[in-house]
Amino acid sequence: METSEAKTFLDDVIKGLSLAQKQLSPKYFYDEFGAKIFERICSTPEYYPTRTETMILKNNVAEIARKIGPNATLIEYGSGALEKVKIILEALEKPSALVPLDISKEQLKVAAKKIKTEFPHLNVLPISGDFTKPVKLPKALLNAEKQVAFFPGSTIGNFEKEGAIDFLKSVKATVGENGLMLIGVDLQKDRDTILKAYNDEAGVTSEFNKNILIRINRELGGNFNLNNFEHIASYNEEHHRVEMHLRSLAVQTVCISGIKFSFDLNETIHTENCYKYTHRSFSHLAEAAGFFPADYWTDSDDLFTVVLLTSKFRQNSEDNF
Ligand code: AVJ
Repeated sequence: METSEAKTFLDDVIKGLSLAQKQLSPKYFYDEFGAKIFERICSTPEYYPTRTETMILKNNVAEIARKIGPNATLIEYGSGALEKVKIILEALEKPSALVPLDISKEQLKVAAKKIKTEFPHLNVLPISGDFTKPVKLPKALLNAEKQVAFFPGSTIGNFEKEGAIDFLKSVKATVGENGLMLIGVDLQKDRDTILKAYNDEAGVTSEFNKNILIRINRELGGNFNLNNFEHIASYNEEHHRVEMHLRSLAVQTVCISGIKFSFDLNETIHTENCYKYTHRSFSHLAEAAGFFPADYWTDSDDLFTVVLLTSKFRQNSEDNF
């Protein structure tokens, strides 16, 4: 990490662990190792979102591509391994460019190089950084015919309501008047299915959650003892969200860059919220940001949905945009 990034990370960690309810931002999960562990989560049998979304995209890609139209520039927020965008790219008519944005530099570099070999004519312009902050795009791209933001995976679920609206607003400003957003959203469903997805048998999610402590130890000179923390994922029915925590299994003191933090027995660090929406609650959220849900696709069990948002209101969603 660059020194300024390391400084921000340290400041955020100190701030978060000084709160009455200790917390860490989920964006810090995704160092090189965390990004790889997340890919393993995606293929656990319990984690339904990835395979369900992939299936929805594959089943409807011709229609999605028709609605997007030719010469589009795709901007993928939190691009990860770039697997899902390939499905869209293959079906699009003359896509003009792909801008993958991701916080994990290493993963971004590898994935961008790989996609370039698979789509040799595609202009690939990776930008690494925190996409929750406004992203400066190359000027040439903003003049392109049509900008399409692609935000799969239900990462929108990590934001609080206000944060989600602000983020969608900034995406809307980036894609402009004729812009579109194709977004994946995990839906509310029975508690058991959701809980299993965040408590997989093989313990990959636990490893992912704890990786944030390993990262603090390595990058910020922390001394977390991993055996003294336990992964917790629970479903908060009132707020329709999964909450991930790391629970202290002892009364203990942890030292990070010379600063001490004490933990009571059973005290937790809140590491992530994953909000689950209904079709209706997500539409309201998008509308609060000035987007209109023009179309949506889902699976037969209604586990997950992919929504196409437009900046302008369209009376007839069957129209080509
Ligand atoms: C990447 C935020 C969509 O909320 O399901 C998976 C992250 N955390 N298992 C999610 C995650 C634990 C994931 N998102």
